[in-house]
Amino acid sequence: MSFISTATLQFPYFDHQLGHPDWRGKKVLDFGGNVGNILGDPKCTIDHDHYWSLDVSRDAIEEGKRRHPAAHFVFYDRYNFSFNPTGIRDLPIPDLGERFDYIISYSIFSHTGKKELLDTIAELRKFLAPDGKLIFTYLDPDFNASTEHPGYLDMTNFEKRVRRLNDGVLRPELMAQNRDADWSILLNRDDLYIEQDDHQPYNLADQDTYFSFFRTAYIHTLFPTAITLPPPAFPYPPDYPAEMQHACILKRSTDEGSSVSDF
Ligand SMILES: C[S@@+](CC[C@H](N)C(=O)[O-])C[C@H]1O[C@@H](n2cnc3c(N)ncnc32)[C@H](O)[C@@H]1O
Repeated sequence: MSFISTATLQFPYFDHQLGHPDWRGKKVLDFGGNVGNILGDPKCTIDHDHYWSLDVSRDAIEEGKRRHPAAHFVFYDRYNFSFNPTGIRDLPIPDLGERFDYIISYSIFSHTGKKELLDTIAELRKFLAPDGKLIFTYLDPDFNASTEHPGYLDMTNFEKRVRRLNDGVLRPELMAQNRDADWSILLNRDDLYIEQDDHQPYNLADQDTYFSFFRTAYIHTLFPTAITLPPPAFPYPPDYPAEMQHACILKRSTDEGSSVSDF
């Protein structure tokens, strides 16, 4: 079975990062929305019939249709190292015939490389309504949740991920390699690539996890007009892991102003 997400808190995340907009009547594309967990949040005010999830997990799309029959779930058979390894490489995003007020994307571009990030964001921006906003999340390797949330693990995003993938063991050589990287990808436990998309070939059976990390200063060079925001500092439910994902917010055109008030 392909991946079914159990993550929650997508609604408070995007609602907070976008400054609590009025979601009613707005068309929302959840790029990589999986089963549409955002709709299951009791506080979510997105109209189900104005919501589209486009995802490369075939089973998630079928399950989303079952859970939220008024919403729209569309399978997108694009290759992804961990989520759809038999998919089609570089498959263009289908035009759903809609222009969206919000395109949201939670924890997708932490599983793709730089080329795919740039290509996909350029495609997605064309599907925004004239005043629409695109918000995607990314992992900044340096973010340490304990700075914002005292009591949480005092560890950077990168160290946390390396330890999780390596049975709790720190891999100093990986930490050292990543120290000055603008961006990097980490395949499986320890196959780290610094500032390059190409990686060694893998047998299908050996393709497991793929994490990418982008330093916030570098995100600003890739998207000079973007607003970036750190993970929100709202109180999390007990035992809920602190948020690790930064947000990058863009408008439709590439020549927009970049002051916070624009958003
Ligand atoms: C970590 S999960 C997050 C799922 C969902 N956003 C959530 O918060 O529950 C990553 C998701 O991205 C999807 N995905 C990966 N590459 C994708 C792509 N190129 N286009 C659309 N979805 C993609 C995966 O199938 C998976 O559902």
